[in-house]
This record gives sequence, C-alpha cells and structure tokens, in this order.
Amino acid sequence: MSSDINDLAGQAQQKINAQHEEIKRILADILECAKNNRPLLNLYDNVRDLVNLLNIHFADENAIMVMCKYPHLAKHMLEHKKIFEEINGQFQALKKGDKTVSPLLAEYLIYLDDNHIAGADRDMLAYISGLSG
Ligand SMILES: [Fe+2]
Ligand SMILES: [Fe+2]
Repeated sequence: MSSDINDLAGQAQQKINAQHEEIKRILADILECAKNNRPLLNLYDNVRDLVNLLNIHFADENAIMVMCKYPHLAKHMLEHKKIFEEINGQFQALKKGDKTVSPLLAEYLIYLDDNHIAGADRDMLAYISGLSG
C-alpha cells in the first residue's frame, strides 16, 4: 500500500468520525423527545438537517469504500440507500407540520445509530484503519 493511500485512508477515517459525531448530535435531540413522548418544536428543521447531512455522509462513505476497495461495499451501499429512503420518506411526511416524532421515524433513527453506525460503519472503519496503520 502506497503512503498516499495510507494518508487518504487516515483522512477519510477522521472525516467519517467527525460526520458521525454530528449525526449523533442531531439524533440525540430527536430521540430524546421520542423517548419522553414530547413534541419537538423544531422537529422539521432537525430532520431536514439530518437528511442533508446523511446525503453528504453516505456519498462520502461510498466514495471512500470504492477508493479502498472495501470488500463489503455493495451491501453497505445498499444499506445507505435503504436508510436514506426511509428517513427521507419520514421527512417528507413531516411537511404537514407534525411536531411529534413518529414511532417509525424513531425506529429508523435507532437503527441508524445502533445497527449501522455501531455495526456496518464500525467494521468499515476497522478495515480502513488497517490501511492507514
Ligand atoms: Fe456512517
Ligand atoms: Fe455507512
């Protein structure tokens, strides 16, 4: 592995980790309200910010996986597509002005945090980490 790839893999890891922190920050606000069955006044703005961030984040991760020839690339990219469609679908539904987090939205957000970021992304980052070491 050339040192260029090592550098790129290291930078990619940092970028993904920073994006995850930002995603988790938005998720925490929304899920806190869902857990307490409390309305969130700026729910629409929060979910819009999340959808915009996921759009960028998934494209970045996809590009990094292609660059690193990640072995589970196809499966991971398909999961990004599904998660984006589900959360964006819930965002479109919020346009009618709901302030309450629907159980379905909460379910997708928990899946994103607990399964995707803590599972598929963790595995991918471990792979990249092997390249940058
Ligand atoms: Fe991610
Ligand atoms: Fe991912």
